Amino acid sequence: MQKTKNPLETPFTKEFGLQYPIVSFGHCKDVIVEICKAGGMGVYGVAGFSPEEIDRELTWIEERVEGKPFGVDVIVSGSMPATGTTEEFEAQIPQAHWDWIEKLRKEFNIPNTRLPDGTVINGRVREPRGAFTQEYARAQLEVLLEHRVPLFACAQGNPAFIIPEMHHRGVKVLGLIGLVRQAVREHAAGIDYIVAHGQDGGGHCGPIGTFTLTPQVARAVAPTPVLAAGGVGCGRQVAAALMLGAAGVWTGTAWLTAKEHDIEPIAQAKILAARSEDTVRTNWGDGAFRRHVGSRMDERWVSKDAPPILPRPMQGILNREIMYQIADNKVEDVYYGMGCGQTAGLLTEVKPARQIMDEWVNECLEAFEQYGLLT
Ligand SMILES: Cc1cc2nc3c(=O)[nH]c(=O)nc-3n(C[C@H](O)[C@H](O)[C@H](O)COP(=O)(O)O)c2cc1C
Repeated sequence: MQKTKNPLETPFTKEFGLQYPIVSFGHCKDVIVEICKAGGMGVYGVAGFSPEEIDRELTWIEERVEGKPFGVDVIVSGSMPATGTTEEFEAQIPQAHWDWIEKLRKEFNIPNTRLPDGTVINGRVREPRGAFTQEYARAQLEVLLEHRVPLFACAQGNPAFIIPEMHHRGVKVLGLIGLVRQAVREHAAGIDYIVAHGQDGGGHCGPIGTFTLTPQVARAVAPTPVLAAGGVGCGRQVAAALMLGAAGVWTGTAWLTAKEHDIEPIAQAKILAARSEDTVRTNWGDGAFRRHVGSRMDERWVSKDAPPILPRPMQGILNREIMYQIADNKVEDVYYGMGCGQTAGLLTEVKPARQIMDEWVNECLEAFEQYGLLT
C-alpha cells in the first residue's frame, strides 16, 4: 500500500462527502442520525415497516440529519413469492409445525399473550406486518423513490429490476452479498456499491468469512467500491478492511451497544455478555440463515424432533407470534432478541455512538502510522 495522507478517504467517502468510510446499519433512528452527524453514514433498516411507516420514518430522519447523506435498507429477495397475504401463507403451514410451536411454548413457559398492534414501543407504533412478498417490497421501494434517498441498500436478492429507476431519481444502489457469484451478478446489473457480508456478521449472512470474502469480491467487481461487513468492531479491523481492498466498512452489531440505541435492555445485556462463540447461525427464524446470540431455542430447532424448516415467508410467519410473546413477556431464557455477530466478543461496554466512531478512527490511523503508511 502506498503512503497516504488520509487512508480514510476512499471512493465511497468521496462520493457522499463523508469524513469516514464507516457505515452503521441499524433499526434505531437516533443512532442513524448520530452516525451521519459524526462523519460516517447511517443506514436505516426498514424491511419490517409498512410503506406508510417508512414514509413517516424517512421524514423524521430528513428533518434531523442536517443534510447529511443516509441510506435505507429493504429486503427484495428473489426467494420471496411474488404476491400473497399473511392469511394465505398461514394456511400453507402444516399442523405439525403449529403443534411444534405449542410444544416449545409449554417447554419454555412462554405466555400466550403479547402487546397488541397499536402499542407504542420505543417511539414506534407496532403495526400489523404485511407478508414479505415482492409486491410488498415494491411498495416499500416506491417510498424510497419518492423521498429520493441518497442510498438504497438491497439487503437480499438482486436489485437489478429497480436500478435504472433508482438511478433516474439520483439514488445510488448498494447490494449486500454473501458469495462472489452474487457480487458478479449485481455488478453486471450496474450496481454502485457492494457489501461483502461475511458469516461472522450479525443478522442474515452467507457462509463465507469476511477475511476470505472481501478480497475476492473486491477483485471480482473492481473498480466498483466494496465495503467489508461482518465482525468489524474496532479500528484495527477498519484498517484491515482497507488493506483487504475495501473502500470502507459496513457494521451492525457494534451499534447495538451504543448509548443512544433503543434496544431492549435484555438484548443489549446479552450482547455485552456474549463471547464470539456464543453466537450461532441458524435458519429457523424466517428460513434464511441469520446470526444471533444462541439460546436453548436454537438447540431445540436442531434437535431430531424439530420439523423441517419451511420456505419463506412461511417459516417467519410460523414464528412471528411466539417471537413477540418472548420479547413482550421478557422470557429471558430463550430471548431471541436481535441479530448479533461474532464481534460481540469485542463489545463489553455501552458508549455513545460518537465515541465508538472516534475510537475506531483513532485506532485505525494509529495502525497506519505504526506501519509507516502515513505521510
Ligand atoms: C440486529 C441486526 C439486524 C440486521 N438486520 C438487517 C436487515 O434488516 N437488513 C440488512 O441488510 N442487514 C441486516 N443486518 C446485517 C447488517 O446489515 C450488517 O451486514 C452486519 O451487522 C455486519 O456485521 P456485524 O454485525 O459484525 O457488524 C442486521 C444485523 C443486525 C446485527
